[in-house]
Amino acid sequence: MRVVMLGAGYVGLVSGACFADFGHTVVCVDSAAKKIEDLQEGRIPIYEPGLDALVAENVRQNRLSFTTNLAEAIKTADAIFIAVGTPSRRGDGFADLSYVYQAARDIAQNATGPIVVVTKSTVPVGTGDEVERIVKELRPDIEITVASNPEFLREGAAIIDFKRPDRIVVGANDPRAAAVIGEIYRPLYLNQAPIIVTSRRTAELTKYAANAFLATKITFINEIADLCERVGADVQEVARGIGLDNRIGRKFLHAGPGYGGSCFPKDTLALVKTAQDCGTPVRIVEAVVAVNDQRKRAMARKVIQACRGSVRGKRIAVLGLTFKPDTDDMRDAPSLSIIAGLQDAGASIIAYDPEGIRQAKALLSDVIYADDAYSCAQEADAIVIITEWNAFRALDLNRLREVMRDPILVDLRNVYPRTEAEKNGFKYTGVGIGMR
Ligand code: UGA
Repeated sequence: MRVVMLGAGYVGLVSGACFADFGHTVVCVDSAAKKIEDLQEGRIPIYEPGLDALVAENVRQNRLSFTTNLAEAIKTADAIFIAVGTPSRRGDGFADLSYVYQAARDIAQNATGPIVVVTKSTVPVGTGDEVERIVKELRPDIEITVASNPEFLREGAAIIDFKRPDRIVVGANDPRAAAVIGEIYRPLYLNQAPIIVTSRRTAELTKYAANAFLATKITFINEIADLCERVGADVQEVARGIGLDNRIGRKFLHAGPGYGGSCFPKDTLALVKTAQDCGTPVRIVEAVVAVNDQRKRAMARKVIQACRGSVRGKRIAVLGLTFKPDTDDMRDAPSLSIIAGLQDAGASIIAYDPEGIRQAKALLSDVIYADDAYSCAQEADAIVIITEWNAFRALDLNRLREVMRDPILVDLRNVYPRTEAEKNGFKYTGVGIGMR
């Protein structure tokens, strides 16, 4: 099949490379000339494990290419995927659909024959209707069908998620679109990946419901963690105790500093806004958004408390800046609020992150950056683990303590058991690990 991927950002690039790896011919189109030039020269603009090798191999096999020229790419396409960004709209939190609608207009202007358009971007219910309307209005002469195929991949594990999905959701109101998308995903039939074919609106809502549910699960366990601290219980054991119940499931029950990233914060907010607009508010998700927002700042207070009530004039070492490991993405990362909270309270910050420092520099001010965990800890009055990178999972705690001024460890991801930290001379604070 010949596939056009409109938007060479995170989702477009990963999906395009994976479709090419299935054996399809994929052209990724983006209006950002510099990005396309970089990709043509083999430079990948994001950090995602395995993506550079996957792109290189498929380019070498002539199955994957990059261009700014949509007119040329569209001529022979069996399907055109829209994979442009849908950020939070400034001011009101609705999804900003301007890039999606621009993509629809670009497709209409360049189409030469019947087309199947598929939205992969996360878009509110009804966006497919509007995309269809835009294209039909501009090009009443061509046959167009618009489907929805939301993406469920996680940053840091995107390629494996794409190739071994729990399910593929296809929202198509007409059988032709469903057949084309089914053909594109056919290589996954071997893995027996379930394909769920629904109406377009159902597919659009499924994506938001999935992200909102996962964000709710995390927020639930975070609040239980706070309660654990108060009553002297251990949230990790509670999570295991409930997670082994198949109806609940063990995943997404790791208590921490609150969820961040490019998806959960914007998608939960957009769902809240859409539901309010429809007169059917999703109050649970409203609470999730509010609780998670407050939590990030509360984590700064937790660090201050661990530092005997004050960080004024103290040097705080931060390990991990990205919103999760194996990415360089800093969007809505808890580290941003936590560091700002500590700086407001008079602390100076030294930080280390394996991949995120370049992005962090653009978002944080007055932070010193270290080259590794041990140099970060040098002369520090406390060390705070914000992101659970593998590089921080097996630190020599004794060595770490020896270079510090004060042996305080605040572990916001519960990477280290309290006993191990204390055995190495640390004063330990985890999340949801109460003491009695
Ligand atoms: C999320 C979803 O997991 C994907 O299925 C979805 O496709 C994607 O959003 C999207 O809409 O594009 P992602 O944002 O890459 O993926 O990362 P997650 O692994 O879901 O983590 C999100 C946040 O939740 C991170 O800040 C992470 O640290 C936090 N988290 C996750 C926890 O605090 N506890 C957990 O148990 C799990």
